Amino acid sequence: MRPGIILLKDGTDTSQGKGQLISNINACQAVAEVVRTTLGPRGMDKLIHDGRKATISNDGAELMKLLDIVHPAASVMVDIAKSQDAMVGDGTTTVVLLACEFMKMAKPFIEDGMHSMIVIRGFREACRLAVEKVNELCVGADDIVEKDRRVLLERCAGTALNSKLISGHKKFFAPMVVDAVTSLGGDLNLDMVGVKKVGGGSVTESFLVHGVAFKKTFSYAGFEQQPKKFKDPVILCLNVELELKSEKENAEVRIDDPDKYQSIVDAEWRIIFEKLEMCVESGANVILSRLPIGDLATQYFADRKLFCAGRVSDADMRRVSSATGAKVQTSVFGFTDDVLGHCGLFEEKQVGGERYNLFTGCPGAKTSTIVLRGGSEQFIEESHRSIHDAIMVVKRTVQSSTIVAGGGAIEMEISKHIKDIAMETEGKLQLVLLAFSRALEIIPRQLCDNAGFDSTTVLNMLRKKHAEGDGMWYGVDIDDEGICDTFNKYVWEPAASKVNSISAATEAACLVLSVDETVKNPKSEGVKPPGGGGGGRGNPVSRAMGGQGMRGMMQSALAGGGRGSGYTAMKGRGGR
Ligand SMILES: Nc1ncnc2c1ncn2[C@@H]1O[C@H](COP(=O)(O)OP(=O)(O)OP(=O)(O)O)[C@@H](O)[C@H]1O
Ligand SMILES: [Mg+2]
Repeated sequence: MRPGIILLKDGTDTSQGKGQLISNINACQAVAEVVRTTLGPRGMDKLIHDGRKATISNDGAELMKLLDIVHPAASVMVDIAKSQDAMVGDGTTTVVLLACEFMKMAKPFIEDGMHSMIVIRGFREACRLAVEKVNELCVGADDIVEKDRRVLLERCAGTALNSKLISGHKKFFAPMVVDAVTSLGGDLNLDMVGVKKVGGGSVTESFLVHGVAFKKTFSYAGFEQQPKKFKDPVILCLNVELELKSEKENAEVRIDDPDKYQSIVDAEWRIIFEKLEMCVESGANVILSRLPIGDLATQYFADRKLFCAGRVSDADMRRVSSATGAKVQTSVFGFTDDVLGHCGLFEEKQVGGERYNLFTGCPGAKTSTIVLRGGSEQFIEESHRSIHDAIMVVKRTVQSSTIVAGGGAIEMEISKHIKDIAMETEGKLQLVLLAFSRALEIIPRQLCDNAGFDSTTVLNMLRKKHAEGDGMWYGVDIDDEGICDTFNKYVWEPAASKVNSISAATEAACLVLSVDETVKNPKSEGVKPPGGGGGGRGNPVSRAMGGQGMRGMMQSALAGGGRGSGYTAMKGRGGR
């Protein structure tokens, strides 16, 4: 017998082999079970309470973030949901469901002893075929009957909103979202779409400002005497503090005569007045600063019938600057006309219980702000997430201009395509391609299950329709149990969203399938290695992995060897 080789530190736990792989798949499936019911227009929402705050959401990425998953393999699911959120914004539930279904389909192969590399290769091939097919099937904006880009964008936004809490108001929000995104011009920088949340009021009181809106900042005495409305105002943006400062903070002053003390105080006043005069002389009516504007300055500006606001947030300042053309100044000296901004109207307005500063009628403004209203905080938060999904979808559609039909139609069509190819393929690859093709059916099936339909019947109808080749855009009819042409029903989704979700899901499934060993280092959990000999206590992670704790496996070897405590021995693979 070869001696055991000490390789890993005491307390290290490893699990490996088939059992480990299967248990990783099981963990990922447990994650999918959580988000499964949220898919589609009839999907339910989840309420997650973290001890302090309750969140109600239908958004896959948000749920995955809040679930705080600790399982190392299942955390891959969180990553793909986040990446889908960043890339496309919508389709985060879809990507998690697809990835888990791919793994579920791979499980019997692994159990039967097929090498996971064969499954991975098959999945990659199937994914390539699927992406190719989506790109072939997708419909460009020019091919659409209406030939109107705006209609296309509104419908894509509408589909993204279908499954959300505010779906009843999609006719109200879809045009608003499209207006917000199209106002950005060519560069489509979504930072320039501000979303402000004001509690109270009905959701339909939400509105879009073609320009900038931000909540009234903290203000000092004298503010109420300032005018709150200007037509064609001149705007000055500063990064300067306008407050009377005791200069002793910045300089050391020595005086030999107490009478001279007054001259120092006077100098301090002179400095601030000089700054204020410069601002007034610039000709601006509205003076904004990132830093505080104190009571002296507020009163000074009020006397001259000017408006000022200090402590404007960075993002808002950037939007004002972009909308009005004002350039943020870090000094009050040497203002020229080109650093000043202009807009059609500035006003301070009451929105619900808050006062808002609105800049509208901006020339060539590439920014807009959506002010969301709603009864409860959770409702507004969820509306915000839904609007974010719709904004991202519109952005994607503007960029690529190609769409596919949703409601499971595109998934069924790809599934059929891959099945056809599988039938002409030989060997194990055929089985893997067939498994991939079946896994894609999870989307229509789940849409049916969530709507309370008989998924088996509906899926059979869909399979028949697609196999006959006369209904490539047939998907689940969510209003009336059965199937319908979802393209004609305007359930349109950007093709980029589908391509991204299929490729990300395949990659995630392949990643999990390629792991055959997990090593858990005690240091990574901040646990001290136990002093007593290899105790074989499976720790939680090891147990969750379903693998045997390595220490447990080695226990007998250690006992037999009569070694001292504090050692964990590990034999090389195949070392017996
Ligand atoms: N009117 C409709 N009829 C049928 N299916 C629809 C309809 N509207 C949307 N769908 C489908 O619902 C699915 C989207 O559901 P949902 O928005 O809940 O999940 P997601 O977009 O994957 O994730 P999330 O929105 O949480 O990021 C898509 O497959 C879409 O095609
Ligand atoms: Mg969605």
